[in-house]
Amino acid sequence: MNTFIIGITGGVGSLLARELIERGDDVSGLVRTAEQRQALAEIGVDGKSGDLTSIAADELAELIGPADALVFTAGAGGAGKEATTAIDGDGVVKAIEAARLAGVTRFALVSVFPEAWRERNLGQGFDHYIAVKKSADIALSRSGLDWVILRPAALLNAPGQGTVALGPAETHGEIPRADVALTLAELLHEPGITRQILELTAGDTPIPDAVHANVRTR
Ligand SMILES: NC(=O)c1ccc[n+]([C@@H]2O[C@H](COP(=O)([O-])OP(=O)(O)OC[C@H]3O[C@@H](n4cnc5c(N)ncnc54)[C@H](OP(=O)(O)O)[C@@H]3O)[C@@H](O)[C@H]2O)c1
Repeated sequence: MNTFIIGITGGVGSLLARELIERGDDVSGLVRTAEQRQALAEIGVDGKSGDLTSIAADELAELIGPADALVFTAGAGGAGKEATTAIDGDGVVKAIEAARLAGVTRFALVSVFPEAWRERNLGQGFDHYIAVKKSADIALSRSGLDWVILRPAALLNAPGQGTVALGPAETHGEIPRADVALTLAELLHEPGITRQILELTAGDTPIPDAVHANVRTR
């Protein structure tokens, strides 16, 4: 399988790239600096230079090339409302258009639980982030592509457990980025998961079993 990752230098994206390479897949992705490109080349990943905010959809499609799947796990982090709109929102819309132009039908989007941390009253910036993520989910779900939306709970830089809770509705908690990456790799390799929104948090089910359990039989 040949996968292009937008957000490949990020926490989840870099772990996913390594996992896919270990499985023997071809991996490429969008990078913003020569240093990132060099570091990725050392693990066998083909970094393609571009910035999501300024690149045109047809230029992005050129970089994506003949991939089997596109993963979007980029994010503006805490960079402010404008950046959130540009990357987590418009960036996804641009990536959907680029996937179409490149002829890539499989599209996995890393989103967020709509109710994540709402009880903390984190302010307008966070409310905006949640709203933008939801609008991106809507855009992808209406795209006609072979999409999967994965909504992980709060991300931790902790060792992966190899077990999770995954389903259409889960309770928001926490999850190591390593387990998110492993789940994404498994989802990409399971064509029986299609046009589904899946929520992901810490749990007791081995990741391959959790993914299998979500394959719809009818
Ligand atoms: N943090 C949480 O608790 C949480 C919870 C649920 C869901 N999520 C979502 O999970 C996803 C992954 O999160 P993460 O923490 O692993 O991400 P991260 O480490 O913050 O990485 C963000 C990625 O986006 C890239 N990026 C940002 N702006 C870009 C631009 N203009 N052009 C190209 N690439 C750009 C970054 O590239 P550079 O390395 O060049 O900056 C990096 O690869 C995000 O979509 C996030 O919204 C997060």
